[in-house]
This record gives sequence, C-alpha cells and structure tokens, in this order.
Amino acid sequence: MADTGILLQVKDLRTQIVGRGGNRIVKAVDGVSFDLRRGETLGIIGESGSGKSMTALSIMRVLPEAARIVGGEIWFNGENLLTKSAAEMRRLRGEALSMILQDPMVSLDPLFTVGSQLAEPLRSHMGLSGSGLKERMTGLLSAVSIPSPELRLKQYPHQMSGGMLQRIVGAIAISCDPQLLIADEPTTALDPTVQAQFLDLLERLRDSKNLSLIVVTHDFGVAARLCDRVMVMYAGRIVEMGPIREIFDNPRHPYTKALLASIPDATERGVRRLKSIDGQPPDLGNLPPGCPFAPRCGSVMERCRREYPPEFAIAAGHVASCWQVHAP
Ligand SMILES: Nc1ncnc2c1ncn2[C@@H]1O[C@H](COP(=O)(O)OP(=O)(O)OP(=O)(O)O)[C@@H](O)[C@H]1O
Ligand SMILES: [Mg+2]
Repeated sequence: MADTGILLQVKDLRTQIVGRGGNRIVKAVDGVSFDLRRGETLGIIGESGSGKSMTALSIMRVLPEAARIVGGEIWFNGENLLTKSAAEMRRLRGEALSMILQDPMVSLDPLFTVGSQLAEPLRSHMGLSGSGLKERMTGLLSAVSIPSPELRLKQYPHQMSGGMLQRIVGAIAISCDPQLLIADEPTTALDPTVQAQFLDLLERLRDSKNLSLIVVTHDFGVAARLCDRVMVMYAGRIVEMGPIREIFDNPRHPYTKALLASIPDATERGVRRLKSIDGQPPDLGNLPPGCPFAPRCGSVMERCRREYPPEFAIAAGHVASCWQVHAP
C-alpha cells in the first residue's frame, strides 16, 4: 500500500517583501499553515496577487531578492527547511523538491540545447554519465510524450512550441525523482488540448511515483481534475481549505463562493478561468484592520471590520476563516 504519511508541513509561514527605502512592507504570505501527505495533490487557488506563488517560492526557498521569510516553519520529511544552508537547499531542490515555475521560459536558457539543460541535474545530482545518462534522458522525454527524443535533445528552446517547452520543463522537474513537485500555473500558457495532455502527465507521474503535488491555479477545472484538497488564498492568507468536493458542494467563505460563482462555462479558448469578482483586491502593503475581504463582502458584519476571524472547523478537514461561519 502507498505510504500516506505527511511529507510537508507548513506552519505559520510569513513572507514579506520590503519596498525600496524600507518603508513599505508587503505581507505576501501572512501566517499560512497546511500539510501535505505523500501521493496527495493540493491546489492553491485565488485571485492574482493573493500570495500563491510567494507561498510556493518560500517552500522552495527561491524567493526574489526583496522577499524574506520572517516567520514560521517548513517541515519536509521531518526536517525544517528554514534551518537549511543555501548549499543544503540546492541539493534538496535537485533531489527531493522540484518546481515548475509560472513562466516555463524562465527555467530554460536560450543559449543551451534542451539536452544539455536536461543533462545538468542528472549529472550533478544523480552522478549519471555516458550511456546511462543518455538512456535516462530519452526515457524522460518519452515519459513526457515527446516524440523523436534523440532529435529534440539537440534542439534549442526557440525551436520548440509552447506545449513542447512545458513538457521539457516538466521532464527537467521530474528528472531526479522528486518527492514533492510544485507546479505554478503549469497549463496557463497552453491551448486546451495540450493543457489536457499536460494534466494527464502530472496525474500519471503522481500515481506512478507516489509524488506529492502542489498545483497553483486560477482554474477550478484544473483543481477539480487533479486535486484531493484545495486551499483558497486571499491577501496572503488561507481563507478556506478542504477536500475538493466539500469546497465545490459546500463553500463557506463568501470569497470562495464568489470565486465559484465567477467560473464562466467556457471562454473563447475553452479554458475555465476565473472572471474577476467585484471590487479591488487589497493592497498587501496596507491591509485594513479586520478581515481584508470585508470591503468586498456581501455579507459583511460590524465585527468583520474590526477583528480578523480565526479558523473555524466546518467538517472533517474543512476549515474557513469567516465570522459568518461562527455560530454566535
Ligand atoms: N518580485 C516581486 N517584487 C515585489 N513584490 C512582489 C514580487 N512578486 C510578488 N510580489 C507581491 O507579492 C504579493 C503576492 O504575489 P504572488 O506572486 O504570490 O501572487 P499570486 O497569487 O501568485 O498571483 P498571480 O495569480 O498573479 O500569479 C503581491 O502583492 C505582489 O505584488
Ligand atoms: Mg503567481
């Protein structure tokens, strides 16, 4: 039977971005806690700027220059990643933790062939060379359904389509058999057919390797397809989290309800993306007191503007931070 123990545990993670001159602090991730079991897929969903990528980048410890993790713990396989040295993190990122970035082109160097970029982690982390290396590389390209791998390995990124590049990035991400793969909007740039193929691929990898997956997405269709659980983020915090069916059938936070109500049936490209919901997302550098969703919330109460609601339990594994949920 598959090992279903906890692989990742994030406790009260806080990541801030200090603006120029140091007088503006953006609370990009503001007290996020969750855990992830082996073989489980967790979705992170929320509007643009809600802290989804910053949460992912914090776990990987690959934050932009101005960002700092100022609090919390990230336990991976029983070790706190926040106490690891840069060198230890590099090793872990090669071997056990892996991420597909929001923009796949950022991960590829236009000056090197796809083959040399795929070979690099296999050489440095798995010590492969010669025919072993070659075999592993062609095997990986077949695993991500790239035909004529021999030919493709000799090509440069600009010689490939977006869907092909996404699969190459996927192949690099799984090349050293990670235990955790974080995919940040892995299919946004792809057309619907290629998107479906890429989701198939993620699913296959997860199931065959008992991989734990975190999928950042705007798309409830993607979440429904892949995820066991989802967490909904707003203004750097988790406002609701639960099993995917619970969130669909019994959403409790007004923000989650608004997101679900805003799913269009299909857009011109056939992709179910979130329409914007009424009102502006808050400025994470200048949050109001109380619940940051209050100014946009249709069922706002007096208390919401004063006090941030704690997390209330709704059902097994289903929580929401909203005063409406709280029985008075
Ligand atoms: N490189 C950066 N420098 C400064 N601020 C940043 C940087 N990246 C993100 N931020 C800020 O951090 C906050 C969270 O951003 P994040 O990228 O995590 O959002 P997101 O949920 O991934 O959004 P999207 O759906 O657009 O990718 C936002 O307020 C954003 O403006
Ligand atoms: Mg993002």
